[in-house]
Amino acid sequence: MKPAEVLSLVRPRPPQLPTTATALAHCITIEDVRALAARRWPREVRDYVEGGAEGEATLGRNTAAYGEYDLVPKTLRDVTHVDTSATLLGCAAALPVALAPTGYTRMMHGDGESAVARAAADAGLPYTLSTMATTRIEDVAAASPGDLWFQLYVWKDRGLVRELVRRAEESGYRSLMVTVDTPVSGLRARDTRNGFTVPPQLTFRSLAGMARHPAWCARLLGGPPITFANIDGARGETPSSVMELGLKQFDSSVTWDDLATIRQWWPGTLTVKGVLSEADVRRAVDVGADGAVLSNHGGRQLDRAVAPIDVLQPVREAVGDRVEVYVDSGIRHGSDAALAIALGADGVLLGRPYLYGLGAGGQAGVTRVLEILGDELRRTMQLLGVTSVPQLRREGRSVVRRRDS
Ligand SMILES: Cc1cc2nc3c(=O)[nH]c(=O)nc-3n(C[C@H](O)[C@H](O)[C@H](O)COP(=O)(O)O)c2cc1C
Repeated sequence: MKPAEVLSLVRPRPPQLPTTATALAHCITIEDVRALAARRWPREVRDYVEGGAEGEATLGRNTAAYGEYDLVPKTLRDVTHVDTSATLLGCAAALPVALAPTGYTRMMHGDGESAVARAAADAGLPYTLSTMATTRIEDVAAASPGDLWFQLYVWKDRGLVRELVRRAEESGYRSLMVTVDTPVSGLRARDTRNGFTVPPQLTFRSLAGMARHPAWCARLLGGPPITFANIDGARGETPSSVMELGLKQFDSSVTWDDLATIRQWWPGTLTVKGVLSEADVRRAVDVGADGAVLSNHGGRQLDRAVAPIDVLQPVREAVGDRVEVYVDSGIRHGSDAALAIALGADGVLLGRPYLYGLGAGGQAGVTRVLEILGDELRRTMQLLGVTSVPQLRREGRSVVRRRDS
């Protein structure tokens, strides 16, 4: 063999860019998916998803809080067959997990809410569409055969609120989730610094950011314009930015009486999202809610708000089984979900994790995140020595220990 031929054999090949499928397959944890999405998003979008309110104390606390509990396994039990399914608000789900509402989802990936709803349906989990969605209520319903919930903000224009509720009901959404932790919009310092707007404004800086993320940019420009899809055109209002919408529509005067009115409008199950105390969950039960979501909005509203996992036990003790109790904010592992069930939750909600999946690879990325979480939960249950979600609830107290107790 001639020297040139030998050289051609050892010459390094140019690095191949991994396909999305390969990159997702290499993701072992949700943190891996997060890192992949972070590379694919312009900085403004990454900060919008990742950021929290004010000093971001609650944002950090949400994940750290899970680290303060330890699991105590029960050994030598037959855990060959594990059933991770659960009943969430009366319907069977493959895991005790629902996808939380998130606004402006088409900013994270052009396929947006419809892709997330399809991935949730494929995984046998409910998906909650946000009032601030960038896809119409009816279009998400047409795109997904799954269990759909609709999240409602109680805005100043109650006619518009009534109209959204009617459209969700007519489109077949099964459950209504009323978010109550937004009397005013939290201050997201990162967004203000970045000059983040929805839809994105074309400034010199944002153009430079987009140029470094051509795939994200091509999808954004290739699809319909990013708008508040369920508000534009309704009652002649077309808010041009989050800021404008916030100023126009967030209502600081909403009370439990408004919740009672909405309860009368909605024939299906209703949950109240954003409560964090025994008193407020009791109040939600009195108004006729079927579920309470203990949430601090992923650390995006009241900074220094308590981590939901830390109030779960007292809340469950206060209301017993009169209401379903869900927890979100900071769940990043199957073991976090297991811990929440053991401490008394009926289920957990995921926010950022599925957005990481969406950013990393559209619908396939969301599917990968749900797979990772489901596998982790199953394995955690096996290693804990429990074979079903109800058993984990029943035996919860004996498998969890808080560090300082
Ligand atoms: C980018 C983003 C947008 C959100 N938009 C909404 C919304 O429109 N309505 C709502 O009730 N909650 C919204 N949330 C809060 C989530 O529903 C959920 O409470 C939170 O993300 C859970 O915390 P986690 O992200 O740590 O899982 C949003 C959260 C994020 C990260």
